[in-house]
Amino acid sequence: MPRAVRFDGYGGIDVLQVVDVPRPIPGPGDVLVRVKAAGINPGEASIRKGLFAERWPSTFPSGQGSDLAGVVEEIGPEVVNVVVGDEVIGFVNNRSSQAELVVVESGNLIPRPRNVSWEQAGSLFVAGTTAFAAVRAVGLKTGDPVVVSGAAGGVGSIAVQLAKKAGAKVIGLSGNANHKWLADHGIIPIAYGEGVEDRIRSASGGKVDAFIDTFGGGYVELALKLGVAANRIDTIIDFAAAAKYGVKAEGNHEAANATVLAELAGLIAGGRLEIPIAKVYPLADVQEAYRDLEQRHTHGKIVLEP
Ligand SMILES: NC(=O)c1ccc[n+]([C@@H]2O[C@H](COP(=O)([O-])OP(=O)(O)OC[C@H]3O[C@@H](n4cnc5c(N)ncnc54)[C@H](OP(=O)(O)O)[C@@H]3O)[C@@H](O)[C@H]2O)c1
Repeated sequence: MPRAVRFDGYGGIDVLQVVDVPRPIPGPGDVLVRVKAAGINPGEASIRKGLFAERWPSTFPSGQGSDLAGVVEEIGPEVVNVVVGDEVIGFVNNRSSQAELVVVESGNLIPRPRNVSWEQAGSLFVAGTTAFAAVRAVGLKTGDPVVVSGAAGGVGSIAVQLAKKAGAKVIGLSGNANHKWLADHGIIPIAYGEGVEDRIRSASGGKVDAFIDTFGGGYVELALKLGVAANRIDTIIDFAAAAKYGVKAEGNHEAANATVLAELAGLIAGGRLEIPIAKVYPLADVQEAYRDLEQRHTHGKIVLEP
């Protein structure tokens, strides 16, 4: 029987299990994919802990995960865009990608370009589309100084590159260990913590036009203090601040489609976007993988391999 991540109730990392499940059967318009790589995301940990129980309740037993890349194993009726054996990148909306075999709607799949690694392909969807939406939300023009908090994380590491590609002057907040990676990608690295406001003012030349917050905990207030207009601040995490100050909160939801996914995969294939892979874990080590992720210091993406 195929293996899949399951949990039977809200809780800590120890509720996550990898269990035998019945082989999934693709229905009309569906494709069965043998997963080669599935990225993990902090939002999944929040769902598992029950933090979104009112907004997005779970039903138990629950699977986990949205991101995946793999090989088409079987197609359901009415599928015309892929054939058995195709290598694909995709996503699911029903928390099930962390498994050996996953049923995916055919419209949620794109071809995997040959030179996009399985790890990058399998961790592209949530972080990539979120970064895409956040950068689009703040409307960057050539030379605009923009600050990105969590600049070396899963979303941030993609957002800084997309912002740079838009021509902006990108200032990235990260721990010291990630400053070299940021500088190597044309980003101005700044340490977060005490004195960050002064460091941003001096790096930007005094004017900041836009702010992308991927970390929360006061960065929206900092952006307003720096004089950034509310409609050029986007937070993907601090929804209370977004509601309070009227700043944007555009993320995955605003770009969760195959067209954006294909655009991002094309950038990677063309050597114009890098998804740093922090670590790859076997599916069986799903608990270890989330223990690592939940430290909140991942550079790029952590990936599960069935
Ligand atoms: N709204 C949406 O659609 C959406 C979609 C995806 C994610 N999210 C949310 O967005 C957040 C980021 O996701 P992610 O996948 O990018 O997370 P991640 O990969 O875990 O990245 C976390 C980053 O935060 C940085 N960090 C730690 N302490 C910091 C501080 N005090 N100030 C600034 N940065 C700090 C870390 O940088 P250093 O290692 O350099 O310290 C690390 O790179 C999560 O809360 C997630 O739930 C929302």
